[in-house]
Amino acid sequence: MQKRRTQVGIVGAGPAGLMLSQLLAREGIDSIVIENRSRAYCEARIRAGLLEQGSIDMLGEAGVGARMHKEGLAHDGIELRFGGQGHRIDIKALTGRNVMIYGQHEIVKDLNAARIAEGGQIVFEAGDVRIHDFSSKAPRITYTHGGEPVEITCDIIAGCDGFHGICRPAIPAEAITLYDHPYPMGWVGVLVDAPPVSHELVYSSTPRGFALFTMRSMTVSRLYLQCGPDEDIAEWSDDRIWEELELRLDGGSDHKLPKGPILQKGVTEMRSFVCEPMQFGNLFLAGDAAHIVPPTGAKGMNLAFADVRRLSRAAADFLKRGRREGLDLYSQRCLKRVWRAQHFSWWMTTLMHSFDTYNAFERRAQQSEREYVASSAAGAKTLAENYAGMPWAWDED
Ligand code: FAD
Ligand code: DHB
Repeated sequence: MQKRRTQVGIVGAGPAGLMLSQLLAREGIDSIVIENRSRAYCEARIRAGLLEQGSIDMLGEAGVGARMHKEGLAHDGIELRFGGQGHRIDIKALTGRNVMIYGQHEIVKDLNAARIAEGGQIVFEAGDVRIHDFSSKAPRITYTHGGEPVEITCDIIAGCDGFHGICRPAIPAEAITLYDHPYPMGWVGVLVDAPPVSHELVYSSTPRGFALFTMRSMTVSRLYLQCGPDEDIAEWSDDRIWEELELRLDGGSDHKLPKGPILQKGVTEMRSFVCEPMQFGNLFLAGDAAHIVPPTGAKGMNLAFADVRRLSRAAADFLKRGRREGLDLYSQRCLKRVWRAQHFSWWMTTLMHSFDTYNAFERRAQQSEREYVASSAAGAKTLAENYAGMPWAWDED
């Protein structure tokens, strides 16, 4: 058995794990990231696209913002579409903050490159990853690499291994409360070699269901369609996708839907989920390992960054100065932002999707809520403030 030692053992090389490793390195703290997939797989996984102002700032401060600032698309607003009409929400004017389109897989590439260039340690294609003794002062991570068993001893473990990872399930069930809220639908997501419908995002609600028109660049679109909960992507031919997108854009004279080859397609499930507390002993969960949101409000990756920003500071305080308060209060402090994002994501999802189970009353009430957001300064501001992301000062210690 090969034995290694580090200060922070990080499970998962997604946005949370990589960013945590990068922030810890800025504090002079050593970490090893253990990932079960290959680097190429992680760098090709198309997921989030929208960054809040706080995440944009954080990438810059972590020394990985150069390509994002060059290639990312800064947006000042979004369009909500319903009843065949567009309603612009001017996020910048309402909050003073921007959002930015820059793909999660590009961020993962930038973080991998930065960590590896600085001599950071990321183990890809680790097998049988397990965590041990995390209620003690010497937690361990074991895995196999190239068929060889390896053991890492560390001071703390960061569980950044996503919703399906191994860290959260390792916590004794009686020590945590799980809040789980599934939705009766999913999203079909496609990547298309064609320019976006509009220079800003279009969130469209129609009686046929919801659609989101976003992008990865001014030549590549990312398009989503509400679908049933467990749908097989094989049921969605390219023709069916285009027909449904056209109907749900309901573009009238405002928008034409540019078409092009579909490069990738898949189905995403939807759920709201929180694990409380997000820690046990010397194991700290961050990102999707601790909570997930439906994608409508674009909060998942942004929340993952907010968690690791807090965790990196708390870990530095403990490992450099012997102060444990930040670690002890990690979960409690994270949860204020987590639950704000949970409510917002659930609210925006229920605002814009069609629900078969809704009666006539619920449909009219939902329509009234959409009209309120589109026509009232207070309604628009509430959406804008949450969408741009609550400023760091809002939940600073
Ligand atoms: P992950 O990205 O899931 O990373 C976890 C890592 O751990 C992975 O690399 C995984 O391979 C690895 N892992 C898993 N199990 C193990 C194991 N046993 N051992 C070792 N490693 C393991 N968020 C936004 O902020 N904005 C958006 O616009 C947005 N849009 C989205 C659109 C869609 C369609 C989807 C699906 C999600 C979207 N999200 C968005 C959410 C966002 O993608 C996630 O919240 C984000 O990936 C969370 O990052 P993470 O690092 O916590 O988890
Ligand atoms: C993207 C995804 C979202 O869920 C969202 O609300 C905004 C943007 C995207 O993939 O670009």
